[in-house]
Amino acid sequence: MKGCSMNKLWGGRFADQDWSDSEHFTASIHFDQRLYRHDIRGSIAHARMLARQRIISDEDARDIVTGLEAIRDEIEAGDAELSAAHEDIHMNIEALLTERIGPAAGRLHTARSRNDQVATAMRLYLKDEIAAILRLITELQSALVALAETHDDVLMPGYTHMQRAQPILMAHHLLAHFFMLQRDYERFTDSRRRMDVSPLGAGALAGTAHPIDPEFSARELGFSAIFDNSMDAVSDRDFLLEFLSAAAVTMMHISRLGEEVVLWASEEFGFIEIGDAFATGSSIMPQKKNPDVAELIRGKTGRTYGNLFTLLTVMKGLPLTYNSDMQEDKEATFDAVDTIKACLQVAAGLIGSLRINRERMESTVREDFSAATDAADYLVARGLPFRQAHHIVGRVVQYCLQDGKRLLDLSPDEWKGFSDLFAPDIIDTVSPEKCVNARISHGGTSPESVQEQMRVARRELQNREDS
Ligand code: ARG
Repeated sequence: MKGCSMNKLWGGRFADQDWSDSEHFTASIHFDQRLYRHDIRGSIAHARMLARQRIISDEDARDIVTGLEAIRDEIEAGDAELSAAHEDIHMNIEALLTERIGPAAGRLHTARSRNDQVATAMRLYLKDEIAAILRLITELQSALVALAETHDDVLMPGYTHMQRAQPILMAHHLLAHFFMLQRDYERFTDSRRRMDVSPLGAGALAGTAHPIDPEFSARELGFSAIFDNSMDAVSDRDFLLEFLSAAAVTMMHISRLGEEVVLWASEEFGFIEIGDAFATGSSIMPQKKNPDVAELIRGKTGRTYGNLFTLLTVMKGLPLTYNSDMQEDKEATFDAVDTIKACLQVAAGLIGSLRINRERMESTVREDFSAATDAADYLVARGLPFRQAHHIVGRVVQYCLQDGKRLLDLSPDEWKGFSDLFAPDIIDTVSPEKCVNARISHGGTSPESVQEQMRVARRELQNREDS
């Protein structure tokens, strides 16, 4: 779009004043406008610091602060005119401030550069977004715990290699997802702790000759610490990379959860039914109920990985300090924020909507051979080495497969045919309930172990509520 150029805030050294051919390319206002509140917070803290240090007058600082607050309200109301001619949100706000309060606006950028300004705004923005993401992770974890608690005695097959392996409690399976999300929660918390450092006062790269007080502005902005090295402060985006990798791992986790919802809701499994509000119909096949929400959670994981790789690649070849390439950090970060928030929110709703088909889950586990390990353990308890026991039960399974029987169909005599150590109580031993009840080891699937996990989960959620 031509004809947008107007006087640039940095236009002084340029003879040719027509940027209309490139300004839409270099501009970031169409995406970085979402930083307006955080940019304004940073500017207000900076102005207050400048006045406190007698670098600008109290009167100018007051005008700057009230001007910035009015601009924030104006942008909020959608009334501000933001323009590509002013490149990014930082310079648009400064231009609006100049229009509003005149020359005093020109003093705001004293002892500051857009390089420390944008790093400050991004850190403030992400700290807020992480708080929102932590709340959403908590909601999803709560939904998992609630489902586990209301169905704490439902049996189902546990899988390895997607083959039925050993009977488990469904609650145990759900809590596995809880604990994965628990580490995601901690990863975001950790990354927030490291990003909680103010870069404001680093200047363009080398610091400033003005007698600034970066500790003061950091405190005003709620940062816990200030940078140690001004070049590091404006150069690095590792705080974004940590965020993006935490987001990628979380998405990987909820993608796996989504995948299980898709599988379990299929007619072949028939373990669950998804609430109508979290499924869709087919435009051609009237009978269908598609698990779109779960599929899209799985599908959107890809773009989150992409965002991490985008920024890793943007950063890898950059000499210190700031380079314009770094403006490319924004869309990747914003997209990751939007994607993970949307996915977590809908995942919590999805889990809350599930109806569990207990009969189907339990009949599945009765029909299969997932009690085979317990039959082998039975022989081990009667003195046989495990390898030998494994072999004998393997023969039992082969016999059943040939005869179209299940373990639960075998008579005491049939068992005895494979080993004298099999007494009639083997029948009871291979019931799925018994198999589950027997797994009392730490973190195992017995009701006691699962209740203990539930207590850990509840305590964790309770601590969050209290803090
Ligand atoms: N819009 C820029 C960014 O996102 C702000 C920093 C610009 N600094 C500069 N020296 N051009 O990175």
